[in-house]
Amino acid sequence: MSSEQTPQGHGQHGKHGFETRAIHAGYEPDPTTGAVIPPIYATSTYKQDGVGGMRGGYEYSRSGNPTRTALEANIAALEEGERGFAFASGLAAEDTLIRALTRPGDHVVIPDDAYGGTYRLVDKVARPWGLEHTPAPVADVDAVRAAIRPGTTKLVWVETPTNPLLTIGDIEALAGVAHDAGALLVVDNTFASSYLQQPLTLGADVVVHSTTKYAGGHSDVVGGALVVRDLEVAEQLAFFQNSIGGVAGPFDSWLVLRGLRTLALRMERHCDNAELVAAHLAAHPAVERVIYPGLESHPGHAVAARQMKRFGGIVSFRLKAGEQAALDVCAATELFTLGESLGGVESLIEHPGRMTHASVAGTDLEVPGDLVRLSVGIETGADLVADLDEALARATR
Ligand SMILES: Cc1ncc(COP(=O)(O)O)c(C=O)c1O
Repeated sequence: MSSEQTPQGHGQHGKHGFETRAIHAGYEPDPTTGAVIPPIYATSTYKQDGVGGMRGGYEYSRSGNPTRTALEANIAALEEGERGFAFASGLAAEDTLIRALTRPGDHVVIPDDAYGGTYRLVDKVARPWGLEHTPAPVADVDAVRAAIRPGTTKLVWVETPTNPLLTIGDIEALAGVAHDAGALLVVDNTFASSYLQQPLTLGADVVVHSTTKYAGGHSDVVGGALVVRDLEVAEQLAFFQNSIGGVAGPFDSWLVLRGLRTLALRMERHCDNAELVAAHLAAHPAVERVIYPGLESHPGHAVAARQMKRFGGIVSFRLKAGEQAALDVCAATELFTLGESLGGVESLIEHPGRMTHASVAGTDLEVPGDLVRLSVGIETGADLVADLDEALARATR
């Protein structure tokens, strides 16, 4: 599909509220059948009306597929961006972004606390091709500025909140620092979700999502997305998305699109339950420290309150009794399922040091062994608290 023909942007839905955009942006009921939900266009190719006579610009499904187009337009509208791009995974999105916007000899600043797979991609895949990187703490704007190599740094990449330590970066300030050095600010918005935070409106240039998480929301699909506000950057991403080919398939696109329609409702409930769990754990004698941006004790609380609608569904905590107790708690919960990933309706528990972040062991990004990460789901809040209480009692007696 040629990019100028891609139906994108939030158009008439730009003036609507988030929940309205989530349900309507990117798709009008099908003119032939009236179907209110986009069909899963399980097709690899499209009949042309004479050579080059494409209908709606569709020629081949790596280049464009109507179900994917609906998702791309929808997520662009939610992030208040100009264009969205959907990928087979969050890491496929990140890989395309890095290859589109950097070249051998360039440099990127990455968070010193980040999803382990992002670090692995930058350190083990991109670095051997000549991309240098420097980790910096996202909460410290001066440290990020100091990590930039003017002229060589092309991307300042942050997560906020970070995975798994939930550090908060001030997006507006970081955008200023990146732009002063001629770099773009990339914000991985996976943890906050498009509902709680819209980085492009705060000056970021590119938003990254693992749509596997809150966007999909039901732990039944792996996907990724990029959203940008500058059309030139969009053109580069469109070219690389098609050239590399790590695109979201139509069924996966349909699942993420279905998830996004209820994102606002789910996030409110995730936040309610996470606040309950964080307050409860903060008062628990076996817990050394609860890390949740919604707690006033969190050093990034004020910035989070400014740039996020609420504080999200992830709660991390450290055990007084150390690593073995953390492992025992992970093994002892019943409602909180032991597993990687996050952002689904069901509650999950994990040990970052041995699971999601095993790939950063021994690096600047290593996480503490006594750390437990919760993805707080949308079950009955009191049941979740009781499950954690019982597990903590069993693990620390
Ligand atoms: C913050 C963050 N970014 C990116 C990714 C990578 O996404 P995916 O697993 O969909 O490739 C993850 C996965 O856990 C993540 O937590």
